Amino acid sequence: MVVASNSRSVQRSGGDAHRIAADGSGNRRVARYDSAHAPRAEGRSSTFSIAGTHPLTQPPAVTRPSLVTRTARRLAAHFRTSRDRLQRRFTTIYENNEWRSDESASGVGSTRARGADFQDDLVALINRWQISSIVDAPCGDLNWMRNVLAQREIDYTGIDIVPALIERVSRAHSESQRRFLCADMTRDDLPAADLVLCRDGLVHLSFADARAAIRNFQRSRARYLLTTTFVARTKNADIPTGEWRVLNLEKAPFRFPPPLAVIDERCRHSGGIYRDKRLALWELAAIAV
Ligand SMILES: C[S@@+](CC[C@H](N)C(=O)[O-])C[C@H]1O[C@@H](n2cnc3c(N)ncnc32)[C@H](O)[C@@H]1O
Repeated sequence: MVVASNSRSVQRSGGDAHRIAADGSGNRRVARYDSAHAPRAEGRSSTFSIAGTHPLTQPPAVTRPSLVTRTARRLAAHFRTSRDRLQRRFTTIYENNEWRSDESASGVGSTRARGADFQDDLVALINRWQISSIVDAPCGDLNWMRNVLAQREIDYTGIDIVPALIERVSRAHSESQRRFLCADMTRDDLPAADLVLCRDGLVHLSFADARAAIRNFQRSRARYLLTTTFVARTKNADIPTGEWRVLNLEKAPFRFPPPLAVIDERCRHSGGIYRDKRLALWELAAIAV
């Protein structure tokens, strides 16, 4: 660990250093911190900056979110789970193998056999949409995803909130174009990438936390989001973060537009009750949450 001025710390993970700083709201910004990749402009851009005071200079348009937007944001922040609670909950799940798989810390949905059902389609999608960098949030233990990375060279950043898990995957899987960060996908600043892959992530979060994660992906300036959705469901139910339920992201309260592309995970276990499970692709800019 290296300490840097103007930031809380620089953490080393997977051969790269990452700066973690605190902003006014207690959120952390995480940025890659090496000479080749200078950290990008600081987190949330201010919409209230005042400039152009010269009488001949046209002042820039000041865009202020409406009262409704500001109230909705305050309410959403109120219902979000704190970082500490999120981290404690998922660390307990990890330490006690609560998702009950002998093979993967990420549960029975993350075995190599499950990955084999759709990983060729994932590689084809990466090629078809000319994806050259991925942020995998959450990455879990990389149990099936490592087979995709073995098939297709790509710049890859794995994100998870459980420190022990990130230490483990960093030790086992870091390479020059592959790194891992312990971060909270609902609030920490994520590295920019062509694609955010969020498989089996939002399904464990409350509506408020899932919305926060989606907005955080948008803030990362990634172009695309590839994420889990169950296309045959007509309704979504809220849960406390840390539990699990199916989500159809095209239904309320998310109301995503029709996806650009869909991968059928060919999920046939449990008598086929999850056979509508898909990884679907959206342009993040087209999502309003
Ligand atoms: C079911 S696993 C899925 C992992 C991987 N995407 C896969 O397909 O195997 C869910 C993971 O989400 C992580 N997680 C939950 N909330 C998170 C958050 N707010 N930020 C980052 N990771 C989170 C958990 O620690 C866990 O490793």
